Amino acid sequence: MSPIPNPFKPGAGHMPPYLAGRDRETREFDRVLSQSVILENVILTGLRGLGKTVLLESFKPMAIARGWLWVGTDLSEAASLTEERMAMRLIADLAVVTSAIPYAEEEIIQMGFGGSSSKVQRTLTFDTLISVYSQSPGLVADKLKKLFLTVWAYVQPHGKKGIIFAYDEAQNLSDSANTNEFPMSLLLDVFQSIQRQSIPFMLVLTGLPTLLPKLVEARTYAERMFHTVFLNKLDEQSSKDAITKPIEDNSCPINFAPESVESIYRISAGYPYFIQYICREVFDIWLQALESKEPAPPIPIDGIQRKLDADFFSGRWARATDRQRELLKLVVMLPNCEEEFTVQEIAQISKEISAKPFSNSHINQMLSTLAGSGLVYKDRRGKYCFAVPLLGQFIKRQTD
Ligand SMILES: Nc1ncnc2c1ncn2[C@@H]1O[C@H](COP(=O)(O)OP(=O)(O)OP(=O)(O)O)[C@@H](O)[C@H]1O
Ligand SMILES: [Mg+2]
Repeated sequence: MSPIPNPFKPGAGHMPPYLAGRDRETREFDRVLSQSVILENVILTGLRGLGKTVLLESFKPMAIARGWLWVGTDLSEAASLTEERMAMRLIADLAVVTSAIPYAEEEIIQMGFGGSSSKVQRTLTFDTLISVYSQSPGLVADKLKKLFLTVWAYVQPHGKKGIIFAYDEAQNLSDSANTNEFPMSLLLDVFQSIQRQSIPFMLVLTGLPTLLPKLVEARTYAERMFHTVFLNKLDEQSSKDAITKPIEDNSCPINFAPESVESIYRISAGYPYFIQYICREVFDIWLQALESKEPAPPIPIDGIQRKLDADFFSGRWARATDRQRELLKLVVMLPNCEEEFTVQEIAQISKEISAKPFSNSHINQMLSTLAGSGLVYKDRRGKYCFAVPLLGQFIKRQTD
């Protein structure tokens, strides 16, 4: 008997066997694709593991089918990008789709006796793009704008609707006054300027919820430049689809009874990564039972929870200092900790129960360090939230 593959895919950026829900988000993206003058760029945002990367991946064929070219990469390593390197990044990405498009004919003079000449067709390869860029006058932004205008003049006759620049993990982009490098502002300035000149190059950025505030901090007009799609956890029906559809196929020997589906839904709370993780575990356990001809055991909820804690949460928790953990344990005593919480509320509860209460300024400073390490973030109203789904419950388990 050939081994039965486990269809579930818990893992960053791994396309799930069935992409559940997300109809609203897909419709919104479809609407944005119909623009001929770009008035809206897109931000796809949400907590860790909500499915930003895989949704972005699923948008790509949609956009291509509607006549767009699609370029882009993952900006995980973008923290210390300079403006010049940001420009190189954009040019390298662009060249992937333009390199076969004819540009100008170049006369090559043969050396040697007679010195005959012949014409060679140049295309918009990386080298061509770089030479257009370098020969343009001005600062990095001016050169990029000139390059984009030139590229579009050659791409448009091929009947393309425009070019989408899709960047994942874009919250890593940073301007830095210290080094005098402003790659995030550069990106916004260039796209805003060419879009005003009706060049249909569109930005689609995905990232953690810190992304939009960061963009707005760089350029206040970013607020108006982007349509933000906020990914939430899946609703009950979509969660259940994500659990059952991958094993609906008749040839799959495992199936989840309604009670099992219910408990997987409950433990995962509808968070896509957790759904994939738990289903993968359950599938393996049941497959082993099936292979040894035993009845399927009940779902070992505690065991799976412990494994998930070790695999997903522990690493993040281990990076927090003792004092930071004390602070977070206070946070989870707040009734609204899974939504949002304020410095004031933490200070209050700290005064009530801590032997050594935290001062407001200390809390402020610690939350901002915790935001830097990706455990919390500040939302647009200046309140704090956990940046990792179900982190509050995990911390409560540590306290118990
Ligand atoms: N709509 C969905 N239905 C079922 N599973 C999904 C769905 N969206 C995402 N997943 C699964 O959830 C996990 C996380 O997805 P993904 O890596 O895209 O999240 P992310 O938001 O990009 O996370 P991060 O912030 O860590 O980059 C993957 O295992 C993926 O297969
Ligand atoms: Mg991702």
